[in-house]
Amino acid sequence: MTDEPTVPQGYATTLFDLAGRVAVVTGGGSGLGAAIAIGYAQLGVTVVVADVNAAGAEATRATIAEQGGQATVAMLDVTSRDQCFALADAVKRDHGRVDILVNSAGSAFRSPAEDFPEDKFNFILDLNLKGTYFCCQAFGGVMLGQRKGSIINIASIGSFVGYPWASAYLASKGGVLQVTKGLALEWRDRGVRVNGIGPTLMESPLTKAAGSTTSITADFIKARMLRPRLGLPKELIGTAVFLASDASELVTGHIVMCDDGYLTA
Ligand SMILES: NC(=O)c1ccc[n+]([C@@H]2O[C@H](COP(=O)([O-])OP(=O)(O)OC[C@H]3O[C@@H](n4cnc5c(N)ncnc54)[C@H](O)[C@@H]3O)[C@@H](O)[C@H]2O)c1
Repeated sequence: MTDEPTVPQGYATTLFDLAGRVAVVTGGGSGLGAAIAIGYAQLGVTVVVADVNAAGAEATRATIAEQGGQATVAMLDVTSRDQCFALADAVKRDHGRVDILVNSAGSAFRSPAEDFPEDKFNFILDLNLKGTYFCCQAFGGVMLGQRKGSIINIASIGSFVGYPWASAYLASKGGVLQVTKGLALEWRDRGVRVNGIGPTLMESPLTKAAGSTTSITADFIKARMLRPRLGLPKELIGTAVFLASDASELVTGHIVMCDDGYLTA
């Protein structure tokens, strides 16, 4: 009788295999979510592009279809808990399961803290933190039923360090870090892993809309970068694949930083 090899023949060849899995990507109609959705589809994942922006979501779906992948569009406002649960039911009905959830819907608002408008503070917390939480609850529930699934929350360097004129954003992303840890702890023994990705300042429509490429916020961040270069959305795909796949089986409750070394300084 021979002992089973420590690493069975072929084990590593399937570690990153995502073919046939089902992913929901919130905020998939733009920026980081769109890039991750397209990247997953290139690996054979069926992607549900969930967004409030119909045109953006449709553009991502069309790109995936042109590239030979599988995607559908779902209208979703992540700040509505009811809509999150309704979409989770619909995806389970239509696709049978949900293997991967990427929470990329989010926004930013710039203001000095002493003048930060209450409605804008609520808007950012509702979208970035509660929206992420509602989707974790809704799609995480489906995953718990399957006893398998991977949730990836888009966090930020702002989950760990401060920068000016972004106090609501910092509060929301600090919250995303702690929600990620809390849910990872509760769900580990039921097969669901919860992690995050912490990007540096990225080139995306959000960065342009928030004036981040030229604002006091962006100037502060840029002055502390190890090299003067924004991240590209496609540069997050590798980490999103790792966290979604069986290659990260022992990884849960962490934010994997894609910050070009920002937090080392
Ligand atoms: N751009 C950066 O520099 C950067 C850095 C770190 C983290 N992030 C985070 O990454 C995520 C994506 O940012 P991005 O740069 O791709 O932004 P983006 O504006 O390009 O895309 C965000 C998407 O979210 C969608 N969205 C907004 N509100 C929604 C809602 N209520 N329900 C569903 N969808 C909604 C938008 O329609 C849009 O398609 C955000 O959470 C952001 O905080 C961005």
